[in-house]
Amino acid sequence: MGDNLRVMAALLPQYEGCIDLIYADPPFFTNKHYPARIGRDEDSRHPLEWQLAEGYGDHWLDMDNYLDFLYPRLVLMYRLLAPNGTLYLHLDWHADACARLLLDELFGRDRILNEIIWTYHGPSPIRHAFNRKHDTILVFTKGDKYTFNADAVREPYHPNTVKTFESSAKAGFGKIPNLARGKVPEDWWYFPVVARLHNERTGYPTQKPESLLERILLASSNPGDLVADFFCGSGTTPLVAVRHGRRFMACDTTWRAVHTACSRLSEQGSPFNLQRDSILTMPALQVPIKVAIQTQIIRLVDPPKLDYWEVDPAWDGKSFHSVMQVRRPNRSGEIPLEIKLPAAPTNVCVRAVTIDGGLIQLHVQPVANSPDRL
Ligand SMILES: C[S@@+](CC[C@H](N)C(=O)[O-])C[C@H]1O[C@@H](n2cnc3c(N)ncnc32)[C@H](O)[C@@H]1O
Repeated sequence: MGDNLRVMAALLPQYEGCIDLIYADPPFFTNKHYPARIGRDEDSRHPLEWQLAEGYGDHWLDMDNYLDFLYPRLVLMYRLLAPNGTLYLHLDWHADACARLLLDELFGRDRILNEIIWTYHGPSPIRHAFNRKHDTILVFTKGDKYTFNADAVREPYHPNTVKTFESSAKAGFGKIPNLARGKVPEDWWYFPVVARLHNERTGYPTQKPESLLERILLASSNPGDLVADFFCGSGTTPLVAVRHGRRFMACDTTWRAVHTACSRLSEQGSPFNLQRDSILTMPALQVPIKVAIQTQIIRLVDPPKLDYWEVDPAWDGKSFHSVMQVRRPNRSGEIPLEIKLPAAPTNVCVRAVTIDGGLIQLHVQPVANSPDRL
């Protein structure tokens, strides 16, 4: 967690040339603020259940100021990419043309693999122009050898195409498609926006659909590959990466993004490391949480209402290794206050986020040999 410029610079000594796929979804140069929605069952149809909270800002003095932000980060991404790696840079009409020139300069003009158009529907107040309903994803490969798993992303042909070829083999001017195998998708994609996907919505602003990331990951990485997202927001990329057996690195500058990402990752039930940039200030918790430790059981005693909590049972004092996570059920029910660890802890650190979302705590509880302590 932290400013990705510092995070990526810190990764260079160990990871230069090591990341197989980077998906980057930075602020788009919209000069808007994007609040988050927090509360149970984040749903605009039940506004009493959620409230607005700080999300992230996308404010710039001018385009130069924005490109001064973007360029050094793209340079670091380029350096971190493996020789056969691929970068997907997700933007829209505000800055895609300028960013394309930066990527041309960095990667070389001939290294563009695709300019993907992601189209979607949604309400729009615009009356003076066509509704702006697409984003642009610029795809650049570092070298001419790169991963592209065409078979992993094939989709069925349109029923009309199937009908045409079934009725006449001559329809394709001699080329007969393999109808059963399906086709490699075009460079324009339709996926519904997350606002329409009730099961995916986290309330974090500008969250991208899992299906979009799934296509990117399946096409441009292999199981076991290292995938990174240094503007991870709600954590769509790490979530999809874990689901498909990829290793991941993810970073965001706001603690709400990181909390949302951790909370989503907890659904997958696999451990992950969380590292914080030491200069970041975290909201302070007013009510300290008491933690009871009984051999392998960690129990929170009378905590304030929590949204999420997690445990590192062998905390090294720096990197938080989230071994077990608990999250408040989305629709109803209370959050469990007890976690059973796979083994006895040595140095317990608990992170907890309250339901108003503004409070977070790092609580360290050294464990002696005593079986029970508060
Ligand atoms: C467009 S959103 C990403 C949304 C994400 N793809 C998702 O599916 O939820 C951009 C994110 O970049 C983060 N961000 C902005 N500046 C950053 C920086 N310097 N370092 C790390 N993250 C940053 C913002 O906090 C925000 O969460």
